[in-house]
Amino acid sequence: METFGGGTAVLYNFMVSMRLFHWAYGLAARRVAELASPGAYVLEIGPGVGELLKALERRGYRVVGVDASPPMLKYAQRRAPGASVAGVSFKMPAREAAFDVAVALFTVHHWGDHGRSVAEVWRVLKPGGYFIVVEVDLRRMPLAGSHGCTERCLRDVLATHFEVAVEKRFPLLIGVGRKAG
Ligand SMILES: C[S@@+](CC[C@H](N)C(=O)[O-])C[C@H]1O[C@@H](n2cnc3c(N)ncnc32)[C@H](O)[C@@H]1O
Repeated sequence: METFGGGTAVLYNFMVSMRLFHWAYGLAARRVAELASPGAYVLEIGPGVGELLKALERRGYRVVGVDASPPMLKYAQRRAPGASVAGVSFKMPAREAAFDVAVALFTVHHWGDHGRSVAEVWRVLKPGGYFIVVEVDLRRMPLAGSHGCTERCLRDVLATHFEVAVEKRFPLLIGVGRKAG
């Protein structure tokens, strides 16, 4: 797992304040809205400085963010007060079957232990719940280096626990896993 320290958090928060990634937050929020109505319980894993959490909260979702980085969480607390907690994807601080949707934007490529993490997401989702993963498509954007994934990799990671569909929305891949039930 990669850690995000204080300097990275300041830089990331600056980029988000400049609205560099708002196109992706909009896309992720719309994808959530296609799968769950306002009032649904939504878990964001790796919310970083909290911009998507804030957008989802404004749309009426009951959101919880779980992030491994205290410096990133400090900014998330400003954008969506009380909506995020410290924790890691592979040991989620949540009871089982608590969420209708889980969303992970630009973070899965940082997770070291994909097997345990995906099992944890599955555990905390309700039967019939969805896990939305958004990543840069490395086939189309090889310059992104390790900051993304390929369609094959995304499918393989999700397919251990979910029924999987992958959409391509240049320059992104959107993987949607459904928990049977
Ligand atoms: C590139 S940032 C993306 C933040 C946010 N999703 C966005 O798009 O603005 C990745 C975030 O994932 C968090 N992260 C990385 N690995 C994690 C893990 N295994 N569990 C929880 N959070 C993790 C980092 O601390 C960081 O805040």
